[in-house]
Amino acid sequence: MPEAPVVIHDPVEMRTLTKSLKRAGKKVGCVPTMGALHEGHLSLARASVAETDVTVATIFVNPTQFAPGEDLSKYPRQLEADLKLLAEAGVQYVFNPQAETMYPPNSSTSIAPPKISRKLEGEFRPTHFGGVATIVLKLFNIVGPNVAFFGQKDFQQVAVVSQMVRDLNVPVEIRTCPIVRDTDGLALSSRNIYLSKDEREIALTINKTLAHVQKQIEDGQRDGFEVVTEMRQMLIDGGVSSIDYAAVVDPLTLESSDPIQLPVALLIAVYVGKTRLIDNCVVT
Ligand code: PAJ
Repeated sequence: MPEAPVVIHDPVEMRTLTKSLKRAGKKVGCVPTMGALHEGHLSLARASVAETDVTVATIFVNPTQFAPGEDLSKYPRQLEADLKLLAEAGVQYVFNPQAETMYPPNSSTSIAPPKISRKLEGEFRPTHFGGVATIVLKLFNIVGPNVAFFGQKDFQQVAVVSQMVRDLNVPVEIRTCPIVRDTDGLALSSRNIYLSKDEREIALTINKTLAHVQKQIEDGQRDGFEVVTEMRQMLIDGGVSSIDYAAVVDPLTLESSDPIQLPVALLIAVYVGKTRLIDNCVVT
């Protein structure tokens, strides 16, 4: 049995610990998560364990990145199971603060996220990246990692965090890890448990659409408008309930790429029933 990670709830205790580890010459990796861990999260944990001396995973369902009416209250929480999975991945420490500790009643400072946060996700979840940027900076300040690991699954999130780190001179390196998919191609997500069997079948259209248009672009298609039209049609034909966006964008600026100039990122956000799913791929 691998040793269970040490769970720390208190920010000061966390900071003191990593400070002394770093003073002893250890390289510290951080894997921020909201828990309900699956292979996607664990791939980040393993990447950190492989690259650094000490890995701190954080588990915190951050209320400020959920808008009223989103799934904050029903977001899955399963700390004991998560700790077991992290132990198997070789993670030594878990930072698991309380919401009241992270946001005491008198706290009132937040990060204004970079411009790229207003596009795509930002159009549909206008307060989301402000909440993400604020909590990620707080976690970086508390954990003080040398390196932090994020998934390409949340493409715009890594872009926002990377730019925040550059703009605010935060002393941490950001690593992006590839999307982990189920054997049927569905990108792993803590929200997949909301899907019924029929909805899961519909959800497979998302990855199929990405793969289809990726091939078209690789075969020479350069008409961005046509690609987007085709993506939307495939998603509708596949039975998704609604489309927030289907886009072909420059991976750095997130501006539409039309005519398509490689590399491009293909990004999709849809509802399948009441569940909102996102996925993407980069064509180089
Ligand atoms: P969460 O959704 O729990 O995701 C934590 C990390 O796991 C993110 O970097 C995400 O991109 C990555 N991840 C999720 N599914 C993945 C998959 N299928 N393949 C690869 N990586 C995957 O993202 C958040 O939490 C929060 O916004 C957070 C950054 C923790 C701030 O609260």
